[in-house]
Amino acid sequence: MTPSSPPTWAVLLAAGKGSRLADAAGGVRKQFLNLDGAPLFWRSARTLAAVPAMTGIAVVFPPEDLDAGRAMIAELNGRGRLGLPLVCAAGGVRRQDSVRLGLAALPAETQRSDARVLVHDAARPFVSAALITRLMAALDTGAAAVIPGVPVVDTIKRVPGGLGTAVAETPERAHLFAVQTPQAFALSGLAAAHQRAEDEGWEVTDDAMLIERAGGEVVVVEGEAANVKITNPEDLRLIEEGHVSSYPVTGFGYDVHRYAGAAPKAKQPARPMVLGTVPIPGAPAVLAHSDGDVLLHALTDAVLGCAGLGDIGTHFPDTDAAFDNASSAVLLSEALRLTTQRGLTLHHADVTLVAQIPKLAPHRDAIRKAVARLLGLAPDRVNVKATTEEGLGFTGRKEGIKAVAVVSGAVTPPAPHATD
Ligand code: CTP
Ligand code: MG
Repeated sequence: MTPSSPPTWAVLLAAGKGSRLADAAGGVRKQFLNLDGAPLFWRSARTLAAVPAMTGIAVVFPPEDLDAGRAMIAELNGRGRLGLPLVCAAGGVRRQDSVRLGLAALPAETQRSDARVLVHDAARPFVSAALITRLMAALDTGAAAVIPGVPVVDTIKRVPGGLGTAVAETPERAHLFAVQTPQAFALSGLAAAHQRAEDEGWEVTDDAMLIERAGGEVVVVEGEAANVKITNPEDLRLIEEGHVSSYPVTGFGYDVHRYAGAAPKAKQPARPMVLGTVPIPGAPAVLAHSDGDVLLHALTDAVLGCAGLGDIGTHFPDTDAAFDNASSAVLLSEALRLTTQRGLTLHHADVTLVAQIPKLAPHRDAIRKAVARLLGLAPDRVNVKATTEEGLGFTGRKEGIKAVAVVSGAVTPPAPHATD
């Protein structure tokens, strides 16, 4: 953010009791229901964070869930950082109390007169980044508040006495809009309006009402039909539909090992060549702290890549004495354990070995079977190829060997309706 661009924070409300849905959700508050492998509130956080102008997010949790909420965020951020500051706050009894407390938790940088804030219900997980961008663009034109609305399709009656009593009025339907969140505000105006509501005992059901009561202009822009609020038991169906049952993944790995003869003064020990645990008799020795299995190193990186888990060096650093002489098969099985925890099922592996020497064709079938066994795949789901680089480059000069691996599979997130 450049100093001139206004700070824009979101207050993400996840401090409700979810009482209308609690029984159907097995007692889990709706903001914590599992949507696609993460608590429901995280979907909105991710969408808010995807908007380039967003500076940070304050997530408001029920006071009794504040520590648990913080822990969830730490874990979720560990899986894939949102890339902007997140602060947590304890909410209040009413929604408007939670907003006020969320605003109070915003950092000092928001004390600028041009700061903006978006207030969003975590119970609306399907908001799009496009809607958020639309709201902010409209706010830039000078309104005190901008809110999304969709035309109502039903004719609306005003029935002050409730069911069983007479209709007082039928407002002109063309003038009626059902409004949603996020609602976007000039921060100073919203904070002042909340203070006034507190001082004067105003009760509101959305934040725009405060601006209206304070005499400010609230502009309605086009909302989204999909931006529903998860409210009643029948809305659980929407979470099921929003849950991706599984998605395909591909991982790529690459590794190189130098031949001992090409670097007589090397610090790493020389190891007899093994490829996919298969010994290659008569082949040049390779230099490595580990067992030097170039194929399994590339394969392990490809497996980790399928689950977004970094690379072999992150998990098994070669500066760590614990991995001296490490069996590459053990490292691969550990990578498989980690990725299985993330819901990865492997489907296929394709590996290419690149070396001028030794001749690899006679070993291909043995390597393929060994790799299939290590991956827990049928041999027809594994392919091993070998090639030279026509005398070019370091492999051509017989100074080393390289391996590339492509692994494909599917990630199945945890089932819906369980919290993480
Ligand atoms: N909310 C909040 N603090 C409150 C009440 C509500 O942060 N004291 C949040 C909810 O977590 C939700 C949003 O405001 O994201 C909209 O409220 P609603 O749909 O009414 O959620 P709940 O109040 O949790 O549900 P219910 O009314 O069924 O108890
Ligand atoms: Mg409520």
